[in-house]
Amino acid sequence: MASTSSSKVVDIHTHMYPPAYVDILTSRDTIPLIRKFEGVKDPRYIILKDELEALDKAAADGSAPSHLPGRPVTSHYSSLDQKIHFMDTHKIDISVISLANPWLDFVATEEASSTAKSVNQEFSDMCAKHPGRLFFFATLPLTATPEDLLASISHIKALKYCRGVILGTSGLGKGLDDPALLPVFQSLADNKLTIFLHPHYGLPSEVWGPRSSDEYGHVLPLALGFPMETTIAVARMYLAGVFDKVPELRMLLAHSGGTLPFLAGRIESCIVHDGHLVREGKVTPSRRTIWQVLKEQVYLDAVIYSEVGLKAAIDASGVDRLMFGTDHPFFPPLTSDEQGEWESMTWNMEAVKKALGDGSEGTKAVMGGNAVSVLRLYEE
Ligand code: URA
Ligand code: ZN
Repeated sequence: MASTSSSKVVDIHTHMYPPAYVDILTSRDTIPLIRKFEGVKDPRYIILKDELEALDKAAADGSAPSHLPGRPVTSHYSSLDQKIHFMDTHKIDISVISLANPWLDFVATEEASSTAKSVNQEFSDMCAKHPGRLFFFATLPLTATPEDLLASISHIKALKYCRGVILGTSGLGKGLDDPALLPVFQSLADNKLTIFLHPHYGLPSEVWGPRSSDEYGHVLPLALGFPMETTIAVARMYLAGVFDKVPELRMLLAHSGGTLPFLAGRIESCIVHDGHLVREGKVTPSRRTIWQVLKEQVYLDAVIYSEVGLKAAIDASGVDRLMFGTDHPFFPPLTSDEQGEWESMTWNMEAVKKALGDGSEGTKAVMGGNAVSVLRLYEE
């Protein structure tokens, strides 16, 4: 557990869309895109496949402002002053900011490397404006050539406030169990860059049924699709032996690891009862279980909004491996002032206090101490 002297509050799950990235999205006509609608103050940000239908409808026959697709792009998305205001309002000492989904997953090969460089430089410059209060997870140009992709890690490594990379689940297009990604994982591990794994693609829209897009808002893809996507991505990495092949790899999983803490036992049972794996000699006594990987190579954020999920996360990975987050600027309050208190802060903080005790060493560790020591937030 982190030292008792540190009782800083650190938000490790907090996003920014720097202005240059907003410009890229505004210039696009396929998702992800930012679209302005006449007579509506904030442009709309459309990222999810499930939102396409509503976008087409809005374009064809016009939609009431209350039925526009996606989410409003408020100043919370790209204003650094707004981020600092959010931190001050909620007594957050340090934020580890990251570009939000879908990062640079859609950028053409020729532009990937230079776009990543400029986005990462923008993050670096933002952090330099508030030394000691801001650090960042950089963005990788996953669609670049393999050489350029590896070269980008050297660039990132040299940026003073960078502590890792934010990564989606698509990898180079075939997921994170793709052997072609091993050199990338190895290089990140060699450079002590933690991967912050974050979902974006969810599950195929069909699983939500025909009523979802009209009647259920974004609830199913965000509450269930996102966590399942993370769960599946990490389970695939585990089955492919990635954690054994790159033992120094460290991954921080969004949303308390999706459903991994809850399902790890079932994953283990399915492995030892799988005839194919047993015949292939993959189920040996020396095999590292998924429980071990969760305690040795995985960190979990505390963005789960209730002490029930949080306790499962603590049981699975250990109180010294959980880190507080808010997911700002997503999930703004809808019925109170956006400049005031956000439930993403209060619910997640209450969950930590309920699970570990108000003022306890465990609470201090999860609220910030762990992030300070794991991500070296005392070093510039
Ligand atoms: N919705 C998103 O698209 N991303 C987040 O990080 C949170 C909600
Ligand atoms: Zn997020």
